[in-house]
Amino acid sequence: MPQRVRKAVLPVAGLGTRFLPATKVIPKEMIPVIDKPVVQYAIEEARAAGIEEFIFVTADGKESIANHFSVHPVLESMLAEKKKFAELKIVQDTTLPSANLHMVKQHDPLGLGHAVWCAWQLIGDEPFAVILPDDMVLSGVPCLKQLIDAHAQVGGHVVAVENVARDQTNRYGILDVQSEDGRLAKAKGLVEKPDPAKAPSTLAIIGRYILDPIVFKELDKRTKGAGNEIQLTDALNRTIGAVPFHGLKFDGKRYDCGTRVGFIEANVAFGLAHPELVDRLRPIIERLLADTK
Ligand code: UTP
Repeated sequence: MPQRVRKAVLPVAGLGTRFLPATKVIPKEMIPVIDKPVVQYAIEEARAAGIEEFIFVTADGKESIANHFSVHPVLESMLAEKKKFAELKIVQDTTLPSANLHMVKQHDPLGLGHAVWCAWQLIGDEPFAVILPDDMVLSGVPCLKQLIDAHAQVGGHVVAVENVARDQTNRYGILDVQSEDGRLAKAKGLVEKPDPAKAPSTLAIIGRYILDPIVFKELDKRTKGAGNEIQLTDALNRTIGAVPFHGLKFDGKRYDCGTRVGFIEANVAFGLAHPELVDRLRPIIERLLADTK
């Protein structure tokens, strides 16, 4: 029986260049979808999946992320004084116990693989989750919970995958599939950002992973890959054979908030899924569509 997954790494040290000028001062993970910063959705998903410890890999200028999940005594006492108890609960619900919240700095953005490597000491020798907050997933069962349940069955590495258009393979880590069993695809290899013509499949890894700690030994070699960055996909590829590797075709819809269109799409989709907003939003969206015809 594989060890239980208790810890999650959230790499948030990237520069967010595709979202400038919004990200000049505000970390892209703090930009809200509806009324919550993108990173809060990731934490809520992780908590709902049973994660207890959260490790942010951060960079200079990202202090607001830690502040968002810490106690805010001044705001809380002001809300209590004004008897704004619903708002007080919203604020308190964002707080993570400080013993369960860890920050580690990635001094140079050397790539996602390097960001994950930065969390090695805090993870130790147990399976762990990696969540890229700018991939948001709308689903019944939280995407990370689906991965953890699959990991309890098959162990090793289990990553969330979805089929992408072939002309998009050069944006993702792509699976070379050995066999498929329902929603699980067993991989015999992985390629980071392959040219569409050379991609071994169209099954792309999205920003949710359950990883065996064996990956740290590979990341420690600091081998550079696509874009001259230390790629997580490459390190995972080198561990295939030593531990099983499965992609899970998760149940849900993913929105890539790292791009402008994906971010707008996420706001509309989460708005339409919001019980207090949907009835007011739907006619507005229909009217806007009619106006632009
Ligand atoms: P992205 O490439 O999507 O994020 O990395 P980015 O670099 O912030 O965005 P652009 O391309 O400049 O617009 C995927 C995830 O990996 C993290 C990012 O913060 C993001 O969550 N990351 C990436 C790091 O933490 N460190 C890195 O060196 C690279």
